[in-house]
Amino acid sequence: MTDAAAPATSQTTPATASSPAARTPEAPDWRRTAVIYQVYPRSFADSTGSGVGDIPGITARLDALADLGVDAVWLSPFYRSPQKDAGYDVSDFRDIDPSFGTLADFDAMLDKAHGLGLRIIVDMVPNHTSDQHPWFQAALAAAPGSPERARYLFRDGRGEHGELPPNNWPSVFGGPAWTRVTEADGSPGQWYLHLFDSSQPDLDWTQEEVRAEFDDVLRFWLDRGVDGFRVDVAHGLAKAPGLPDLDHDPTADAPTVQSACWGQDGVHEVWRRWRRITDEYDGDRALVAEAWIYPLDFMARWVRPDEMHQAFNFPYMETGWSPAQMRSVIDESLAAFGAVGAPSTWVLSNHDIVRHTTRLAQGVDYPQGHGVGPETPGLPDVESGIRRGRAATLFMLGLPGSAYLYQGEELGLPEAVDLPPEARQDPTFARTGGARYGRDGCRVPLPWEADSPAFGFSPTGESWLPQPADWRTRARDAQRGRPGSTLEMYRTALRERRANGLATGSIAWLEVPEGALAYVNGDVAVVTNMFAAPFAVPGEVLASSAPFGGTLAPDTTVWVRRDDAMAG
Ligand code: NOJ
Repeated sequence: MTDAAAPATSQTTPATASSPAARTPEAPDWRRTAVIYQVYPRSFADSTGSGVGDIPGITARLDALADLGVDAVWLSPFYRSPQKDAGYDVSDFRDIDPSFGTLADFDAMLDKAHGLGLRIIVDMVPNHTSDQHPWFQAALAAAPGSPERARYLFRDGRGEHGELPPNNWPSVFGGPAWTRVTEADGSPGQWYLHLFDSSQPDLDWTQEEVRAEFDDVLRFWLDRGVDGFRVDVAHGLAKAPGLPDLDHDPTADAPTVQSACWGQDGVHEVWRRWRRITDEYDGDRALVAEAWIYPLDFMARWVRPDEMHQAFNFPYMETGWSPAQMRSVIDESLAAFGAVGAPSTWVLSNHDIVRHTTRLAQGVDYPQGHGVGPETPGLPDVESGIRRGRAATLFMLGLPGSAYLYQGEELGLPEAVDLPPEARQDPTFARTGGARYGRDGCRVPLPWEADSPAFGFSPTGESWLPQPADWRTRARDAQRGRPGSTLEMYRTALRERRANGLATGSIAWLEVPEGALAYVNGDVAVVTNMFAAPFAVPGEVLASSAPFGGTLAPDTTVWVRRDDAMAG
């Protein structure tokens, strides 16, 4: 693996003393077992006082992640960007946005992470660019039919004067997926496709020039020493030839299945090409698919042996607090990913979805973001949600495979539900006229220190989204070393997960009362009471999500060393 402080020029670089542990016969492939912590750079730690997190801020706080016990860190985008979609609108894939720092800052961060034994995965956003990317600016300046426009999906409109969008595809963020441009002579012109915001034009991945450009971008970061890529919208790059109308009316609330704009077979040749590139490098570089596509055995196509290494298990994330549904999605996941030789992953929260403490507290999903408003039935019961969220996390961390944590969940942070409208920045909010709150509530900057400005997020007290006042009690320094805190529960779970080899194990379901769910993984029994009457769980306790004295109350998970009497 590359010494990140001195970017290598060759494509195969030697391991250095500061690299994370290499794979050996004893050490399993990290791409099958790692606990991966998602850093959302805007909201992790701000070193300058601007109110926006940055890369030196991450570097300064990496020790806390090593202390937590994770194996790897995934960074959401930090590339040069107008920040219309919080960095998922990239204008230069080979540079750091000035608000986040410099390439030298990045190299220093990578070096420090590797020195701590943490691998670093960066986000790659190939489906679209920013509208400020030089390619798109050139496309706007060029004529219809030009090579500049061919890199994107420009089409003539329908209707007598081309006044209607070329097809009926919706934007994920609301409204149509097409925007009309004004041509150089001032006349109303062609339309361009944007499956997300209008500031995020989709690239045309049938073009070899587009493919070659991303080959080069991947090598740029691999040569710097990154350990892999989380690939944004990995189900979206290929569109059905001719861009036909959708024959249904997809709403953002319905599970995404294969259609003219999602999950087209053409994406797989791109992932095989990327896999050949990462395989050229030493150090077990990883590719992780954000393929938000159902069902699971279809998603598993993204992690076939010559494609990516992992895919986010969104069906697991979206499963409610139900023993039957949870058992079924786990069986389905292990079968679907196992059938292609891939590990399953597990995830409960990320930067696009309401934090799982709040989702579970409500008992219903609010996938588009929750907030206080006229339609809101009431505020979530925060403490009961945290209790259930902790139980859900402890249940998840006993499962074999790889697990994802989203920054702040180790502090038990709930969704910030009462952000004022003027503070909201997610384009979803504006594109739907406020009908969908969007994702700002899970992106509020982290509390590090109870008694510092902005709870330690920034030296000046600035914060790009307001932090709830009661986060003082949730600050990391208020939880570290305090028995029973959420942070200590996560630390214990990660330590025991590693010590007991749970990531490389396999599970068998155990008999428990109705309303509960339990499995055994190696020597560890993981028992969750969702809503059964309290029942006894014998055995030596390794971890528990709430105080536990031998009888398991509802909304509680316990790990015990396996007692043969429990084996079902
Ligand atoms: C998925 C990312 O996770 C999300 O935050 C982003 O808005 C879209 N892709 C578009 O890039």
